[in-house]
Amino acid sequence: MKIPEISTVGVLGAGLMGHGLALEFARAGYEVAIYDTIAAMRDSAPERLRGAYKTMSDMGIAEAAAADETLGRIKVVDSMEALGATAEYVLEAITEDLEIKQAAFAELDRICGPDVILASNTSALSPTALASATNRPAKVVVTHFFIPPYLLPLVEVVPGDGTDPATVDLAARICESIGKTAIRLGREVQGFVVNRLQFAMFREALSLVQSGVVSADDVDKATTMSWGNRLGVFGPFKIADIAGLDTYQFVCNTVFPTLDNSTDVAEWFQEKVADGEIGAKSGAGVYPWPEGALDDARARIARHALFVFGGGMDD
Ligand SMILES: NC(=O)c1ccc[n+]([C@@H]2O[C@H](COP(=O)([O-])OP(=O)(O)OC[C@H]3O[C@@H](n4cnc5c(N)ncnc54)[C@H](O)[C@@H]3O)[C@@H](O)[C@H]2O)c1
Repeated sequence: MKIPEISTVGVLGAGLMGHGLALEFARAGYEVAIYDTIAAMRDSAPERLRGAYKTMSDMGIAEAAAADETLGRIKVVDSMEALGATAEYVLEAITEDLEIKQAAFAELDRICGPDVILASNTSALSPTALASATNRPAKVVVTHFFIPPYLLPLVEVVPGDGTDPATVDLAARICESIGKTAIRLGREVQGFVVNRLQFAMFREALSLVQSGVVSADDVDKATTMSWGNRLGVFGPFKIADIAGLDTYQFVCNTVFPTLDNSTDVAEWFQEKVADGEIGAKSGAGVYPWPEGALDDARARIARHALFVFGGGMDD
């Protein structure tokens, strides 16, 4: 259900995330104006949007019959001025580069009406730094979506130092209005929440391999075949409640002093990167990646997300 304050959303950037997010807003009934500086991205957007809608309808999460009506709500515009002329809320999803984003925020600030909220889908940049390029820091906020946005429900809503709580509230409500679950951070923090948790675990995983305790392959098994399964259902605190906080406290006291706290990336991993073994895109990383293996892996992740978030669970 649309929120009453907003009818038209501007999406800046028609890349991987931008076109997916435009579709999410259109599915919820918003009019969407989308703009990309690259003409080829604008020209290919309608076909990519239709393809993404078909993927969703094939998965059973969008109605095939509603494709034309939904896609008809998205207008690809050919200038930022055209986007600013109608947008009552802007979501920026352009290249992850502070200078490029700051230039875009300065331009949006000049073009858009004074009440328009400028939200960014940045994965890691500071909302305070983005806001500093504008004269409306109270109306700048990060809303960090996850990929693929039509399957993963979470959005991290992150205020900068000068963000008005009313901006955080509206940004969270508009995310919720398109079916997402918004978590509101009290203040900005490097990596937001998800990446902090993910990389805290990754540092320990690197360390276990570096110190010869276990192989990388066995770290992956230890994750997916035990607590990783629980994490798809409950977060660490509900799992702690189930296990017993007294037990958890005992284990924390025993294990915390021994956990890795280094600020450098483990040597074995640095060597892989230096050797060009950077993962699926180079054909080898921690594992070999023969042709087709990446597509298979992505399809498997999407199937799992569909099972968990697309109605496969019974609660
Ligand atoms: N890809 C992911 O997994 C993912 C997940 C969450 C968040 N994000 C974040 O979303 C943002 C977009 O990522 P992406 O993967 O879609 O990138 P992308 O490279 O696929 O798309 C970015 C698009 O922005 C366009 N662009 C650059 N400057 C512009 C400007 N001034 N005005 C209009 N268009 C402009 C580019 O031409 C490009 O088409 C980044 O901040 C990224 O960190 C990405």
